[in-house]
Amino acid sequence: MTEEIYRPGLEGVVAGETAICTLAGGLQYRGYAVEELAEQTAFEEVAHLLLHGELPDPGQLERFQARLAAVGPLPPGMVAALRAMPPATPMMDALRTGASMLAHWDPDIPDSSHDANVRKAERLLAQLPMVVAARHRLASGNEPLPPDPKRGLAANLLWMLTGRPPAPRAAKAMDVSLILYAEHEFNASTFTARVVASTLSDLHSAVTAAIGALKGPLHGGANERVMKVLGEVGGERNAESWVRQALAEKRRIMGFGHRVYKTGDPRAVYLKTLCGELARESGHEELERAAEVIETVVRQEKNLPPNLDWPSARLYHYLALPVELYTPLFVVSRVTGWSAHIIEQLDDNRLIRPRSKYTGPPRRALRPLDQR
Ligand code: ACO
Repeated sequence: MTEEIYRPGLEGVVAGETAICTLAGGLQYRGYAVEELAEQTAFEEVAHLLLHGELPDPGQLERFQARLAAVGPLPPGMVAALRAMPPATPMMDALRTGASMLAHWDPDIPDSSHDANVRKAERLLAQLPMVVAARHRLASGNEPLPPDPKRGLAANLLWMLTGRPPAPRAAKAMDVSLILYAEHEFNASTFTARVVASTLSDLHSAVTAAIGALKGPLHGGANERVMKVLGEVGGERNAESWVRQALAEKRRIMGFGHRVYKTGDPRAVYLKTLCGELARESGHEELERAAEVIETVVRQEKNLPPNLDWPSARLYHYLALPVELYTPLFVVSRVTGWSAHIIEQLDDNRLIRPRSKYTGPPRRALRPLDQR
């Protein structure tokens, strides 16, 4: 047996190798700084980088977009299932079920080769926004809209949700948020996906499990809770006293802190500027000022910087998106990172099976049932 190392929450433990992403020296996807990707590329280019290993040239991008467009609308059976869900079904639960159900219509399902998994990942990339939009529209009494093959993924998502052509500024803001959410090495949901893949299960199962992991409020679910915080605070004037009281009561302020980034999350730094611009354009300066006070006090009192969920929740609010869509939007983006990791895991697989440190009773004598 090899040497046993134990760290609660696997903090600081290197649990595998990856060529997809590093947080060392700034966040990079396959060697590209995430800020440069956000500034100079579209989400589809980043998705191509993650799934295929390189940024596309113009021809590759055109073919990639054509493959996404060729996926077409959701199978009618999927729409019927989304329609049949109880009205109160949370959006993340509907999406988790949706990801699992999509496997039933996937033509590559029995094939877990590298190429088949890339095809499956591309299909999920096109389909998960449709699931989110369809369920959102059905839950609000509207019929789902088919994707528009002429729009990019971010613009298409906004179009399928609202039925209105999005302003270029809104589509760009959505695109940037999708780029920033796309990948983040061995976070809880990605690690979940790799564990499932390592058993030689299938890509849809691994993605479905990852959605379950992302849903939790300590992970992706935090972006929805951020709006609850801002709602409770109620404005700039109350912000300082609200945070001080919350911290005194040892409450966690959603959108702050990170297991790896202890001095700052570069994604949050990048998105804050865009968030401020959108706040001005959409008349939400008061909320930005309240957020600034909260940020200052949390830093002063706990030395905790905001994470990506802090500005992204506000960004989605300024885009007039309902809160229950925030974590599903994270999924729509992160499916690229998860899929890249599942494929990387399978390209050089070893079952992920750590050990545990036993804390139960020592060995004891078993008494037969009639003597207990
Ligand atoms: N608000 C208040 N205090 C906090 C917060 C927070 N958001 N985060 C950490 N702390 C405090 C802890 O209470 C603890 O304080 P103590 O030493 O006085 O007891 C200290 O900071 C260290 O906290 P840990 O829980 O050990 O830090 P960990 O690395 O496990 O936490 C986590 C990381 C789970 C993200 C945490 O910061 C948190 O709960 N944040 C809120 C949820 C959130 O925003 N999640 C999004 C993560 S990023 C993403 O998914 C894009």
